[in-house]
This record gives sequence, structure tokens and C-alpha cells, in this order.
Amino acid sequence: MGRMKAVVLTAHGGPEVLVLDDAHPRPVPEAHEVLVRVCAAAVNNTDIWTRQGAYGLPGDPSALAGWRGPLTFPRIQGGDIAGVIAEVGAEVDPARVGQRVLVDPALYRDGSRNAPPVGLLGSEADGGFAEFVTVRAEQAHDVTGSPLTDEELAALPVAYGTAMGMVERAGIGAGETVLVTGASGGVGLAVVQLAAARGARVIGVTSAGKSADVLTAGAVHTIDRAQDLVEQLGRAGLDRIDAIADVAGGPLIAQLMPLVRDDGRWVIAGAVAGPVVEFDLRRLYLHNITLIGSSMHTRDHFAVLLDLARRGEIRPMIAGRYALADLAAAQEHFAGQRRAGKIVLSVP
Ligand SMILES: NC(=O)c1ccc[n+]([C@@H]2O[C@H](COP(=O)([O-])OP(=O)(O)OC[C@H]3O[C@@H](n4cnc5c(N)ncnc54)[C@H](OP(=O)(O)O)[C@@H]3O)[C@@H](O)[C@H]2O)c1
Repeated sequence: MGRMKAVVLTAHGGPEVLVLDDAHPRPVPEAHEVLVRVCAAAVNNTDIWTRQGAYGLPGDPSALAGWRGPLTFPRIQGGDIAGVIAEVGAEVDPARVGQRVLVDPALYRDGSRNAPPVGLLGSEADGGFAEFVTVRAEQAHDVTGSPLTDEELAALPVAYGTAMGMVERAGIGAGETVLVTGASGGVGLAVVQLAAARGARVIGVTSAGKSADVLTAGAVHTIDRAQDLVEQLGRAGLDRIDAIADVAGGPLIAQLMPLVRDDGRWVIAGAVAGPVVEFDLRRLYLHNITLIGSSMHTRDHFAVLLDLARRGEIRPMIAGRYALADLAAAQEHFAGQRRAGKIVLSVP
């Protein structure tokens, strides 16, 4: 049996439950699968929350669980994978060996183009914090011609996939005023770039120190999340918003809902500012506002993202680079919140 280096999640807990295994069994591709040699893998909040078991269960918010429920161990985390096909299983074209690929990490409910994700590589199946990973052949997308580096490609699937899901589900288009919360983070910065690229006027909510990065990504204006948001928007003459792309949740919802125009949209994909909220439902229904829950992306959303990646029309900001063995330090950097952009592991 082949062996590989992998960082193995052995239980829910702190960074100490991540164990570097130098001789982990190398997976063998089954029919319709490929073995991908991982070149780069990015870090996401979901890896940390899954390690901690921080998602709770219905009726038991403090239960230890992954995003779809209880996890099985050992598990290799990491949903963001750029690499090269090393081997193919039966029923896969052997000419694909050597192909540079970007992996769609979603495990979909069914085969349709618009199926919602019901699992994620690194959570419900082994992911990319290892030298090799097996994935369904159709989830390993050819990016041979992309001008993006492996690290830039690896920064895309979870953060930009989620951002694309938000932009597409909310139907954000040219000329619209869009407010993005958590705008300096992985998902937020991606929404800023994607919405601005569509011609939307983007306002980013961020801490003061990261404002410049959010403006560089394409926002026309930023507001400081530590100050009164409504007052800042009013002062800037930005008090009529077509859509809010939100990864923060918490008290922002009650504050900002009255600024959303009639039949505007509020798309929400995260809750860094608090998952349990209270707001006046009358502001929602009396103004025909659509509240959209958005988890990751569909196959169609990912295809749009792949097109941008192949043409080099989107370039993620890389805030830190680490070796595979330094995953715990990479997660600490990520969780420290002192950066704009993605943290990436390079796997030589
Ligand atoms: N639904 C999905 O499919 C999906 C996928 C990926 C991520 N997520 C979720 O989306 C959220 C963001 O993920 P991410 O990877 O972008 O995280 P991230 O890179 O850590 O970014 C989060 C940003 O939120 C801001 N922030 C932190 N605490 C805040 C608070 N209390 N109030 C307002 N803003 C705050 C920070 O920026 P400043 O300090 O500059 O304000 C930070 O840059 C998380 O909840 C994550 O679990 C969901």
C-alpha cells in the first residue's frame, strides 16, 4: 500500500487534535474517481469550526458536530484543493494523468446542475490537507491554461464558490448598490471582487485597518464596523441598498434591514457576529424583502467561477503561506483576523 503525509483530525478539539502522519495510507481511486496530487490547499473557517465541533445540532446548539452533523474520525480536512491528477480509476480517461485541476469540494444532493451541496470534502469525506486525495473525476476540473498560481487557484473553491453562490442566488447585477459584511475576509473579499466585476456599486463593512484592501478589491466605499453603520451610510448618501451580502449576521440585521429598498435581497452565508438574532419581521414583509440562505455553490455557480479562473479574470489575495506540517499555525493566523485575504498551504 502506498503511503503519504497527511494532517489527520483525530477528534474534536483544539489544534492538538491535528496530527501529522508521515505514513498515512495513500487512497486508491475507485471507478469514476481520480487521485489528485495536492499542490496547494487553502484554510477556511469551516476547518476550524469542524475541528472544534462548533456547529451544534438541531435542538442542541452546544453539541459537538460538523456542519452536517456528527463527524467520523480519523478525517483529513481541507476543502480547497489545487493539484495534478496522479492516477485514474476505472472508467476515467487515462489521458487525464498529469492534468492540472481545481477540485469542486461540494458533495451534491443529486446529479442536477442546481443540486444543493449536502457535504464537503474535508468534512463528510477526506480533503486536501495531505499529499494526495481521491475525488470524483467530474469534480476535478481542468485548469491547465489558467494564469493563476496553484495557491491562487486553491483560494477559490470554498470562499469564492460561496461568494459566487451568494451573488448568483441574490441575482446581483450591474448598477446595483450592494453592501458586503465581513468584506475583508475570505468570502467577503470574494463577494466584493465578484460583485464589482459585474458592475455593482459595492460598499464594504470592515474594521478600519483593512479598509484599503477592501477598496483595492473593488469596493467604492467602506464603513467601519466598530462605528454606527446607519449613521456612516447616511453621511455618505448610501442609505438605499439593493442587496446585502452578509457573512456576519448578529445585530447588523436589525440595524440595516430598514435601509434595504422595497423588493431588495438579503443573502446570508455566515454568522461571525452571532448566529441567533432578533429583528422586526415587519421590515421584511412590508417591503417585500427576500431573505436568502446560501450555503456554498451549485455546479452551475462553480462553472461560472471556473470560467473566471481559466481566463484569469479573478485573482484572490493571498495573505499567508505555510507548509502542510504547519497547519495549526496557519489556522492560528487565519483565526487571528489580522489579515485580508486567504491563507494557503503549499504541498511540495
Ligand atoms: N455558507 C457557506 O457555504 C460558507 C462558506 C464559507 C464560509 N462561511 C461562513 O462565512 C463566514 C465568513 O467566513 P470567511 O472564511 O470569510 O471568514 P474570515 O476570512 O475570517 O472573514 C470574516 C470577516 O468578518 C469580519 N468580522 C469578524 N468578526 C466580526 C464581527 N463580530 N462582526 C462583523 N464582522 C466581523 C472580519 O473582518 P474585519 O475585522 O475587517 O471586520 C473578517 O475578515 C463564517 O461564518 C463562515 O463559517 C459560510
